[in-house]
Amino acid sequence: MPLAARVVAPPSRFSDHERIEAIDARAASEVRLTGVSRRDTLGDRKRVLISGASSGIGKATAVRFANESWDVCLNARRESVLLDVRSSLRPGRHLICAGDYSDPATACSIHAAILKNWGGLDALVNCAGAYFGVDPIESPMAEWRKSFDLIVNGALNLTRASVPLMTDGGRIIHITSIHGVRAEVGSSSYAMAKAALNQYCRTLALELAPRGILVNAIAPGFVRTPMSVVDGVNELDTEWFRRSYVDGHHLPLKRAGLPEEIAGAALFLAGPDATYITGQVLAVDGGLTITF
Ligand SMILES: NC(=O)c1ccc[n+]([C@@H]2O[C@H](COP(=O)([O-])OP(=O)(O)OC[C@H]3O[C@@H](n4cnc5c(N)ncnc54)[C@H](OP(=O)(O)O)[C@@H]3O)[C@@H](O)[C@H]2O)c1
Repeated sequence: MPLAARVVAPPSRFSDHERIEAIDARAASEVRLTGVSRRDTLGDRKRVLISGASSGIGKATAVRFANESWDVCLNARRESVLLDVRSSLRPGRHLICAGDYSDPATACSIHAAILKNWGGLDALVNCAGAYFGVDPIESPMAEWRKSFDLIVNGALNLTRASVPLMTDGGRIIHITSIHGVRAEVGSSSYAMAKAALNQYCRTLALELAPRGILVNAIAPGFVRTPMSVVDGVNELDTEWFRRSYVDGHHLPLKRAGLPEEIAGAALFLAGPDATYITGQVLAVDGGLTITF
């Protein structure tokens, strides 16, 4: 029942319309928006941990958040590349924590560095990842498990490192893939790992809501990054891509996305306009998954 209908108003010189407007305004002011921290109210700089920040989508996300006055903690394995990325960012109290994000020891050192330097965390953008095509029948188990060990356990490690630092609410954004809901030959282990990440996002959203932490995922389609290069060939520049997706009808926007277009969605999900969104997997794919 709407709040306005429950309130029994005393006789008044105001019209019904004016009374309802006043009640709505009071109700709005009484709502404690979820995922809004004291830093939002005070206008303090906010702090984000981004994995996969040395390249592609993660790097574009680091640039975008720094441009919007966030302090950024950069994670990936190649420290020298992270140093270059940091020097290209708009200045801030940016940190570098290099290491394999699927290794719990890396997560521990990230947690310690953020606690020491920032004292807390407002958002995690878990973007790191890699594609391993494997044969579902013939591949050795060690090959088969690679995607899970990286994508699923990496997300778990960084989430475990981040949540205790989000003492005043926060946002978690996992970068999954349309592979989490669509199938392609040779991609079963990657696709299953991304599907698991989607489901991790939903269950975490339930489990972390009482702490004021909103959890969402972004599922990119084709994005022009080094990941599009397979065996030295950029698949986005192939005849196959042009025929199926540019000239063909499978991709409504008829082009690959840019990493910056995923970064913008991540910033939105971490920002003040996304206080009522949790447990969602947002496809940012030029319409790829709406058609067949
Ligand atoms: N490009 C696409 O079309 C596309 C589509 C759907 C989803 N995605 C997803 O988007 C995310 C970013 O991919 P991208 O396209 O930006 O690819 P990318 O340019 O190859 O970037 C991948 C990033 O992950 C990091 N990384 C890989 N393994 C790591 C590990 N064990 N520990 C820490 N960092 C690691 C890499 O850095 P180091 O090598 O320095 O460690 C790099 O920064 C991935 O999760 C990917 O699955 C991409």
